[in-house]
Amino acid sequence: MPHEVRGVVSRAKGEPVSLETVLVPDPGPGEAVVSVKACGVCHTDMHYRDGGINDDYPFLLGHEAAGYVEQVGDGVTDLEPGDYVILNWRAVCGTCRACKRGKPWYCFNTHNAAQPMTLADGTKLSPALGIGAFLDKTLVHAGQCTKVSPDAEPAVAGLLGCGVMAGIGAAINTGAVGRGDTVAVIGCGGVGDAAIAGARLAGAGKIIAVDVDDRKLGWAKDFGATHTVNSRGKSEDEVVEAIQDLTSSFGADVVIDAVGRPETWRTAFYGRDLAGTVVLVGVPTPDMRLNDMPLIDFFSRGGSLKSSWYGDCLPSRDFPALVDLYLQGRLPVDKFVTERISADGVEQAFSRMHHGEVLRSVVEFS
Ligand SMILES: NC(=O)c1ccc[n+]([C@@H]2O[C@H](COP(=O)([O-])OP(=O)(O)OC[C@H]3O[C@@H](n4cnc5c(N)ncnc54)[C@H](O)[C@@H]3O)[C@@H](O)[C@H]2O)c1
Ligand SMILES: [Zn+2]
Ligand SMILES: [Zn+2]
Repeated sequence: MPHEVRGVVSRAKGEPVSLETVLVPDPGPGEAVVSVKACGVCHTDMHYRDGGINDDYPFLLGHEAAGYVEQVGDGVTDLEPGDYVILNWRAVCGTCRACKRGKPWYCFNTHNAAQPMTLADGTKLSPALGIGAFLDKTLVHAGQCTKVSPDAEPAVAGLLGCGVMAGIGAAINTGAVGRGDTVAVIGCGGVGDAAIAGARLAGAGKIIAVDVDDRKLGWAKDFGATHTVNSRGKSEDEVVEAIQDLTSSFGADVVIDAVGRPETWRTAFYGRDLAGTVVLVGVPTPDMRLNDMPLIDFFSRGGSLKSSWYGDCLPSRDFPALVDLYLQGRLPVDKFVTERISADGVEQAFSRMHHGEVLRSVVEFS
């Protein structure tokens, strides 16, 4: 018998999300049903609502979640009911060319549940990032469940399932920030502040936070920013100059774009030192273009230009380790939780995110 629960659904481009009855099947082979305890509201959920990811409406939103395994399907040997897990959107296959070359964080064939969750009339839902977790119970592939210490409460632990992991990983895994490096982070929302926290953890010497909002810059300092630049009303060149002024006129060793717009990426490109690294972790929409950049600039400035999907993380390696760092007081993941809401508050949470009032609103389930 399918479980009947209420979930947050985006039915049509740009329209407010609604709470709908969702049917969650019992787990089939290799699948698990998870009782969701908390799920953060990520900017990517808003991108889905606005058509910025694809047009496969209706979407079942939510993907930064933690909870308890309730049921497992046939063939699931490493999970059992009662296990405390963070959901991940990188259940690696182990057999694709990336996995076989020992780089499973690039896995090209990640697993999701095979059975669909549906609306009451049978319409198939597209779960955000293959998860869909703004509901009491969800169906995922067993590999999407990463066991962690239950000492970290769900509202905090769940955030490691997407945005916080993406930001920390953008700094540590993709950007390979090292001791004494100068780092600039453009966009200080949940992802950008996590990149700042990651840079601090990796021993960066100077961490420059750039945002258009003073409140965000204040929070960025709590995560380890040593300097801030308010870029509102500034041209790209002026922001680049501000970064250079703070780095002996060279630019930063690693610049992380946690916004994902042509202007922020160009600022990152010109705001880094020669031979430095640019990391794009913010997600551009398909219509965005980089126009009129001289090819010679790419050549003559050297270095590397990278993108960071999910912070190049390997959930089984990174989630338990980051939870432990949090429990040791070395990574303030709890500071990302600005407010706790119920599932009917997601649309308002999008609006607060849009207006810069929150780092993370977290939906809690009883
Ligand atoms: N790569 C990944 O795996 C991954 C994972 C999660 C989220 N994301 C993406 O990361 C981005 C950020 O997500 P978030 O949840 O932190 O969003 P958010 O809305 O919390 O934060 C965005 C921040 O950028 C600032 N900003 C906006 N325009 C700016 C500009 N022109 N210059 C400087 N700052 C600007 C805003 O003031 C805000 O503080 C989104 O595009 C999201 O889709 C990527
Ligand atoms: Zn693979
Ligand atoms: Zn996300």
